[in-house]
Amino acid sequence: MPALLCGIGLFLVHAEAAPQPTQAQVFYSPGDLVRVARKETLQLKGEPFLGAPKGQEFTVLRHEKGKGPVVLAFLQKEGGVVEVTLPEDSLELVPPDGWALLLRGVQAFRDQRFEDARRLLAQATQDAQYKAMASSVQARLEPVLKSAGQVLQVEADTALKALPEARQQRLAQAQKAFVDAVALGRNTTVELANRGYTSLAYSFEEGLDRLGTRVLPKIEAAPAGRPELPSSQLSKDELADKARLAAFSIVRCRQAMAVRRMVEAKSYTEEGLRAEPSRPELKAMQTKAEAEIRDAEDRYNAALSNQKRNLPQALLALERGLKTCADLPQLLKLRDELSGALEEKTAPPVTPAFLSATKSTVEPARLEEGRQLYTTRCTQCHDLEMLDSRSASSWKSEVSSMARRAKINDAQQGIIVEYLAAAQLLVSQAPAKKSE
Ligand code: HEC
Repeated sequence: MPALLCGIGLFLVHAEAAPQPTQAQVFYSPGDLVRVARKETLQLKGEPFLGAPKGQEFTVLRHEKGKGPVVLAFLQKEGGVVEVTLPEDSLELVPPDGWALLLRGVQAFRDQRFEDARRLLAQATQDAQYKAMASSVQARLEPVLKSAGQVLQVEADTALKALPEARQQRLAQAQKAFVDAVALGRNTTVELANRGYTSLAYSFEEGLDRLGTRVLPKIEAAPAGRPELPSSQLSKDELADKARLAAFSIVRCRQAMAVRRMVEAKSYTEEGLRAEPSRPELKAMQTKAEAEIRDAEDRYNAALSNQKRNLPQALLALERGLKTCADLPQLLKLRDELSGALEEKTAPPVTPAFLSATKSTVEPARLEEGRQLYTTRCTQCHDLEMLDSRSASSWKSEVSSMARRAKINDAQQGIIVEYLAAAQLLVSQAPAKKSE
């Protein structure tokens, strides 16, 4: 099998780093983690799909050099992954940390990309936090790769073919070395699984199996004395399921956090950590989600204690709380309870009192239309803000920056802006009256 040997031989010999793309023409590899560097709209099949706030992270599926948009993975509620795209200049690479290098290194071994595996693991050993783990994985992987290369080399050595005895002896030696190295590798996978690094354990184990079938293929009549590949001590299917669940939980959690659904995010981290108890990304996101939830709970308590004494203050705390954590149940309940007062501050109805207080020269029907558009088109993705949180001119620019997302035309924009100008005036001048 010269083609196989050639491939594996090349992988095993060349261990230098792959060429890095230059700054000017960035392009991303599958599996890279990228971050949205400015507000953007995700495209699904070329159509606007969802707003992506600055800072949201995605995993790259594909990015062809010079072909523009980067194809990213987006996980839907039902669990299906859809391909969405963003322009390449709206993204930046999230530099992989020691853990990401380690995981990708072991995944590269799983996929039999040995050169990448070696390079990534070597990089991971430079990381203070993951140095020890990366070094021990590296120390177990290297003999596996080396002995595999030797077996294939002996098999392909044409000069040795004329010396069957010597060949058989060399082959047996190399096979024995490979089998011993795999056995030690298997111990490492058990250790990794026991320490809660499910994904590392799975990828390492799968890599050993794949390489094992190349180096010691199952054949009907194996020559007597040919060593057997040590069998796995782990339930690989179960590991595979857990590793997949952990990876999905990370993506789901990232998406939930992007829209500040922290309660949901926290539950994803818990689900993921049950599958992979030591997964660093999940632990970090769990800590973050818990901190945000505590913050929102403080806002909730402030809103509650101000509810009777100082309603505007309570509404502000409510708004801030929901911006921190959009799905905290007690805040949502309070929002319902205060919906009347909230409406007065976010989208007051066009009543005679409204008209006389604002002295608006705009026709009432047109104001009403503006309110309709505002309360229907601008509430699809988020709550309405308090009108006195920004000036009339700032509202105008917000409407224009959101117009594409809300799918409203210039005329509709103008109508919304007229309503907001009047309503903003009303809300700003209204003394904090108790609504009794
Ligand atoms: C398709 C979803 C979507 C629609 C529809 C939408 N927005 Fe937004 N809006 C967002 C997202 C996402 C953000 C979060 C920040 C960002 O990415 O710009 C946001 C943020 C905002 C903010 C806060 C900006 C800041 O800097 O804090 C305001 C104000 C706002 N939107 C107003 C509106 C108005 C007015 C409309 C209707 C014309 C509207 N939005 C319609 C998605 C939407």
